[in-house]
Amino acid sequence: MKTIVVGISGSIAAYKACELVRALKKKEYDVEVIMTNNATKFISPLTLGALINKPVLIDDFDDNGYEIKHISYAKKADCFVIVPATANIIGKIANGICDDVLTSSFIAATCPKLIAPAMNVNMYDNLATQRNIERCKTYGIKFVEPGYGLLACGDTGRGKLADLNQIVAMIEYCLSDKPLKNKRVLVTAGPTQEALDPVRYITNHSSGKMGYALAKRAFELGAKVTLITGPTGLDFPYGIKTIEIQTAKEMFMAVKEHYQKQDFIIKAAAVGDYRVKEIAKDKIKKKEETLTLELIKNDDILAFLGEHKTNQIICGFAMETQNLIENARKKLIHKNCDLLVANNLKEPGAGFKNDTNKVTFLTAENTQEIELMSKNNLSDLILKKLIEIQEEKAC
Ligand code: CTP
Repeated sequence: MKTIVVGISGSIAAYKACELVRALKKKEYDVEVIMTNNATKFISPLTLGALINKPVLIDDFDDNGYEIKHISYAKKADCFVIVPATANIIGKIANGICDDVLTSSFIAATCPKLIAPAMNVNMYDNLATQRNIERCKTYGIKFVEPGYGLLACGDTGRGKLADLNQIVAMIEYCLSDKPLKNKRVLVTAGPTQEALDPVRYITNHSSGKMGYALAKRAFELGAKVTLITGPTGLDFPYGIKTIEIQTAKEMFMAVKEHYQKQDFIIKAAAVGDYRVKEIAKDKIKKKEETLTLELIKNDDILAFLGEHKTNQIICGFAMETQNLIENARKKLIHKNCDLLVANNLKEPGAGFKNDTNKVTFLTAENTQEIELMSKNNLSDLILKKLIEIQEEKAC
């Protein structure tokens, strides 16, 4: 189990650290908390202690035997974060000052380190603070930049603690190995929508969850990720260039613009196969008992990629309701994919809206059934499989 040490300094945003600790515990990380004395004026160590089910470190000199606490915390950390970080604590770290247990432990830690600042806009913009942040970055410390908004002091500007999802994403990025470092990954996700008239459109049930999980995991594994997404309602993943499209045509244009630079392309989107021949300029009024729409075929983006690929590794998806393996293998060959991830919509736990999926991997040589698992874990497996395919090709 990985250990995350969360350091809390004396900013009003300290209360948000409780939510962060809770989120990390839910993800089954071992969490330790160190608070500065000023932080304890904003939130009670009792709250944090209850959330992690153990004491919070505030004083290096309490009489708990001979353990040198700031060093033992530094040693056990797989990732050390300071959330929220004040201008003062950033200044101390930038200049190597360790006059409390948090700064001492942070400076002693050799694991990946992360700082999420939160302070008044003028304190944040102050040249000294900015210089200190730049200096910390040269030590390899990563920052989750604060957001813009109404601050506790009443001012509006930069200085608001970053969204907790962003902070968790950066922590998970810091914790992961980076087999995709210097690699580019393009993921398409979600449904497409084809307009019928100004009011209506044809679409499908794709939630985008599989594609977003793949993009997020590729980022954590060190890749430079581009996500081309249809309308999903999901939050855009942190650290990823995200391009919004609506129609299959728009997705095709975006893919064409980006595919050549990629090392891996994953087509998790549920692309609409047809669009109406002519979109009505005005709302189609109801008249007869039946209405016939004339549809024309959209380009097959995956088939285009299969035809034009140079050294990109291409992964397609196939959603079937019958003859899974037979249909999927036809798609693998016809679309010239390196890996096809096939699922049967009728299997429990598989398909669009779930957080889980039950799939089969098909390559030119093999068919491999994969057990039911979360889309997050499956993303990891798919990416590792693609890395393996690339390595085999390189031999
Ligand atoms: N796909 C695509 N462009 C399309 C249709 C599909 O790129 N116009 C991609 C999907 O993103 C997916 C794969 O092709 O990776 C298979 O999609 P699927 O809908 O299962 O198959 P189709 O080729 O559309 O065939 P059918 O609908 O007849 O099963």
